[in-house]
Amino acid sequence: MTLLPTTGMENFKTDHRADEHVFRTIIEPFRIHSVEDIALTNLAQRESALARVHYNLFGLHADEVTIDLLTDSGTGSMSARQWAGMMLGDESYAGSRSFYKFRDSVVGLTGMPEVIPTHQGRAAEKILFTETLAPGDVVPNNTHFDTTRANVEYQGAEALDLVTEVGLDPASMHPFKGNMSLERLEAVLEDDSVRTPLVMITVTNNSGGGQPVSMENIRDVSELCREHAVPFFLDACRFAENAWFIKTREPRYEDKTPLAIAREMFSLADGCTFSAKKDGLANIGGFLAMRDPELAARCRNLLILTEGFPTYGGLAGYDLEAIAQGLSEVVDEDYLRYRIRSTAYLAEKMNDAGIPTVQPSGGHAVYIEARALLPHIPPHRYPAQAFAVELYRSGGVRGVEIGSVMFGKPSDDGIEIPAPMELVRLAIPRRTYTQSHIDYVAEAAIHAASKAEDIPGYRILRQAPWLRHFTAEFEPV
Ligand code: F0G
Repeated sequence: MTLLPTTGMENFKTDHRADEHVFRTIIEPFRIHSVEDIALTNLAQRESALARVHYNLFGLHADEVTIDLLTDSGTGSMSARQWAGMMLGDESYAGSRSFYKFRDSVVGLTGMPEVIPTHQGRAAEKILFTETLAPGDVVPNNTHFDTTRANVEYQGAEALDLVTEVGLDPASMHPFKGNMSLERLEAVLEDDSVRTPLVMITVTNNSGGGQPVSMENIRDVSELCREHAVPFFLDACRFAENAWFIKTREPRYEDKTPLAIAREMFSLADGCTFSAKKDGLANIGGFLAMRDPELAARCRNLLILTEGFPTYGGLAGYDLEAIAQGLSEVVDEDYLRYRIRSTAYLAEKMNDAGIPTVQPSGGHAVYIEARALLPHIPPHRYPAQAFAVELYRSGGVRGVEIGSVMFGKPSDDGIEIPAPMELVRLAIPRRTYTQSHIDYVAEAAIHAASKAEDIPGYRILRQAPWLRHFTAEFEPV
């Protein structure tokens, strides 16, 4: 079986001499091959767009956004090798050559022999949970991403977040704030009154600030699960970014390659769900992979019902080609060094100007702490929504509210129970924006923050009964 394809640059990069000058400037390790216009708008245009969409940034046309940091999912740029691979896509319904290329690259990375392609990450979650969960079950995770939580709850099971205490402290500089609490996990696994069909860890911990999980924590969780005979799965969307944090923050890993670290992470798990829209460097796609052939056979039966035949699973042959190639590019050291540095660079620029963000900066996004920035706006007037709107109004930059609009819960007395944090997430698409774009974002954020005292809170006019953040309508108060 072939392992991951190589880029042909390995020898060039490892030939360092002792007297070689070490450059301080970390450059984008790519040049631009085809360009896409972005909209430059004026204040009047942005204010009228905001009024039209009732201050909900999901309602904007992408052509009204100058720098779009709504998500890092499916928004990255593909490489020339990925586009070239797409021309080789084999669109056979059954037994496509592109499937075997895709399967070999996933097996080479994860060591998991059962590989089930899906159209994106949440489809893998839906299939896995349908086959493993029953009403009343409990699924521990460090922090469930919202689609993962929704898919667990859809089966009538409970999605339990067991991130360590320090992971909930935005100011703590702990290197692995995505870690799971072993004590709390052990208590769940030892409680005979609850059935725990599987345990998951999300790398990196998106809903907890994009914070990484250490290899030590993954190993400890894996051992605990083995002792209790409970399968252990990774939500591996951002596995390469997590591997880079392990390499740069965890003792004994600095000399290992990101690929070797990623393989070690996967070797500790029984299976994984994956959205190729993140560290697959593709615009669509995902997979479910595992070691258990019996569970895989059941998942494939459901796959045929909902996604498609097991050698394409809801994807075109050319998508499978793009993902196979993306998985080899994403573990490139120069790419990951630039990627994680560019996120930290944006956070540092904002922090230097007094804008508080979750520390240390995460892998794929910077999370602005709106409660500290706008102390005059109470949680039920949505400070993070207020700052996200102002960032668009003043600079055409679109982020996303992760606070009480997204996670606030209704209560009996009519006053909402607020979310634990009021954050504006600025998620950075992969290989898409240059340093000057990031400088512009920092300038826009600093400009918006300079008006903090004048920024109004918001009231919800209309909302849907669930996932209201996508469609709610607001007015300033
Ligand atoms: N798990 C995590 C940790 C995610 O961040 C996402 C998606 C998914 C699963 C679902 O994958 O979108 O391919 O179905 N996160 C995106 C975001 C949407 O903006 O953070 P999907």
